[in-house]
Amino acid sequence: MPKLQWKQDYEIGNPSVDREHEELVRLINFMIDAAGLGGSAEAFGEAFNALERYMEQHFKNEENFLDATNNSNAKMMKNAHRNLEQEFKNLWASRRRTPSDQDLSDLLNWAENKLLEHFLMMDRTVFKGSSFN
Ligand SMILES: [Fe+2]
Ligand SMILES: [Fe+2]
Repeated sequence: MPKLQWKQDYEIGNPSVDREHEELVRLINFMIDAAGLGGSAEAFGEAFNALERYMEQHFKNEENFLDATNNSNAKMMKNAHRNLEQEFKNLWASRRRTPSDQDLSDLLNWAENKLLEHFLMMDRTVFKGSSFN
């Protein structure tokens, strides 16, 4: 199963946000590894939970900063984050204990087309050059 490759192009120019984004990509790859041949359901469950927890914490960190600085984009960012969290949950709702190759390629597609897209569009626009670091 192919994995995500972190690229410098993914950086949005804010060190704190970029560090957390890179860690999210690492956790997605970790989840793919954990689901690989011979991986136990327990290892996969742990990887899943680690990714979910880190993603929610990352979103909260961004939202707290936007709230603290009265940023007018806070509401838009929160809505986008809630959608991403829901999409991620839906992706795994009925099958998280026995991921198939199809499930993992769905995860990769979602990570590339939704999560990375969010980093590169909304996060880049909102956080570039901000004092959040
Ligand atoms: Fe982000
Ligand atoms: Fe964000």
